[in-house]
Amino acid sequence: MRVQVAIVGGGPAGHLLGQLLYQAGIDAVVIEQRSQAYVQARIRAGVLEQGTTDLLDEGGFALGFGGSSHRIDLQHLTGGKQVMVYGQTEVTKDLMDARAAAGLATVYEAHEVSLHDFDTPHPSVRYSRGGVEHTVHCDFIAGCDGYHGVSRASVPAASLQTFERIYPFGWLGVLSDTPPVSHELVYANHARGFALCSMRSATRSRYYVQCSLDDKAEHWSDDAFWDELRRRLAPELADTLVTGPSIEKSIAPLRSFVAEPMRFGRLFLAGDAAHIVPPTGAKGLNLAASDVRYLARALAAFYQGSSHGIDHYSATCLARVWKAVRFSWWFTSLMHKFPDTGAFGQKIQEAELDYLVNSQAASTSLAENYVGLPL
Ligand code: FAD
Ligand code: DHB
Repeated sequence: MRVQVAIVGGGPAGHLLGQLLYQAGIDAVVIEQRSQAYVQARIRAGVLEQGTTDLLDEGGFALGFGGSSHRIDLQHLTGGKQVMVYGQTEVTKDLMDARAAAGLATVYEAHEVSLHDFDTPHPSVRYSRGGVEHTVHCDFIAGCDGYHGVSRASVPAASLQTFERIYPFGWLGVLSDTPPVSHELVYANHARGFALCSMRSATRSRYYVQCSLDDKAEHWSDDAFWDELRRRLAPELADTLVTGPSIEKSIAPLRSFVAEPMRFGRLFLAGDAAHIVPPTGAKGLNLAASDVRYLARALAAFYQGSSHGIDHYSATCLARVWKAVRFSWWFTSLMHKFPDTGAFGQKIQEAELDYLVNSQAASTSLAENYVGLPL
């Protein structure tokens, strides 16, 4: 097979890139190691910046601390911008459906995927499927295969600089067919740890509580989860929480990670393949979307005769990436219980939250970062 761009990984980054390249008339294949059913069922992100899509609009969210709740009015603070809550599961499914409807090539269940010759003008991607070896010859490879993918791992270690922070806690997430406790998101700081109330629809909720790294989801009964969530919310909210059986329960670790640069010859890294942020602040999928927007634009310019975009891809992405890494790190630090800072740390967080909700300047800075910095 020969294509202009081989996209490794069919998560949101790979699928969105596929769609943008199709719109630009550039021919691409998506090579994904999992089955179509598996990719469709994966539950992750919820919040999308306005720049990611204009579709459950949220004009604000609440910050809970010290027993009460304070609204951050995103629209008012940012001059009309907002975010929307739309599950990543749906985003991926919509993109997969659009790709199938346009008759575009996707290879699922591609095993032993390997990247070759991306330091030459003739790169290729090899994989095996059903015991048969395949080679895709291409002009460029887009590494959209997430944090554990093969793309970043294919770059010689000496060409890569990495930056990392691992947080000493995780998020225990529960999905349930119950009405959301609030029509807007609630981010809660509590001496027992962070909690987040989100939603997927008028009848489906997504909740998270900070948990310890050695917790196991199966050790948390539904009742234990609901009790812990209620304790961390302001009483008037806790009293209206509707609980029910969980339909999914899992633990996600929290990490900040950046690999630089994001381009090696004819290989481009995009999304979680290049960087990870802790989920507080909802930046991960949105960064994946901004990377692939830059990449699609750069590749379109390349085929029209200019290599300026591909030459500046890494620097352009990283400028935005580091600002989101900073914001996610800051919001995580503000909202979570840290094992080593004790009651002093809790008081400092409450003082900063009090400042944040009462200062126009501080609220504006939070809102501006939350809705997404300019592309
Ligand atoms: P991935 O989603 O990891 O996709 C990579 C794809 O590549 C996968 O399909 C994988 O199977 C495939 N792959 C891997 N290895 C190979 C290989 N060797 N060959 C071929 N294919 C391969 N982000 C937000 O913006 N907003 C949120 O509200 C938000 N909430 C989150 C909540 C939680 C609990 C978590 C864990 C994350 C959240 N995120 C959020 C982050 C978001 O989920 C990720 O940033 C996003 O999934 C990144 O997309 P991606 O396509 O780069 O990578
Ligand atoms: C969700 C996830 C986040 O990380 C966040 O900040 C807000 C919402 C969610 O899964 O709905």
